[in-house]
Amino acid sequence: MNPNGTFLVNEIEDIVLNGYQNSMNGSLISILEDIQDRYHFLPKDALILVSERLGIPLSQTYSIATFYNAFSLVPKGKHLVSVCLGTACHVRGGGAILDKIRRELDLDSRETTEDFQFTVEEVRCLGCCSLSPVVRVDNDTYAHMTQARVPGILKKYQREKEALDE
Ligand code: FES
Repeated sequence: MNPNGTFLVNEIEDIVLNGYQNSMNGSLISILEDIQDRYHFLPKDALILVSERLGIPLSQTYSIATFYNAFSLVPKGKHLVSVCLGTACHVRGGGAILDKIRRELDLDSRETTEDFQFTVEEVRCLGCCSLSPVVRVDNDTYAHMTQARVPGILKKYQREKEALDE
């Protein structure tokens, strides 16, 4: 995330100009999806800018940004770790796996790591109870999870960052 806002403004301008000028709600959602993908949340200044550029009241942009679960108004990590605590996963140790993940990532009471690499959330049933306990990282589903597998799985995503940093 850029510290001074200029880079962000340029990027948001690009997203808006990139074929969305004739705005309707569908276009607004597409723009917000693009911003969410890029920054892992919807910065307030970006919502103001999008509203201005599309000629849409800010209240309407906010109502869409807060209606859909896919959007977040607070910064999220690059990787979303969803730990299932639905009934099947809970009885098979989902809570202990969540605790292990939180310890590994040094989260204390936070949901997102300080380096914004991971956000950890609890979910109620990922729709694959026969695989419980289940953890999902981004689009990858990990079945029959154990606490012992947690460090290796998290490392895989940390390695991706290290590879990109090199
Ligand atoms: S309860 Fe965890 S996948 Fe259904």
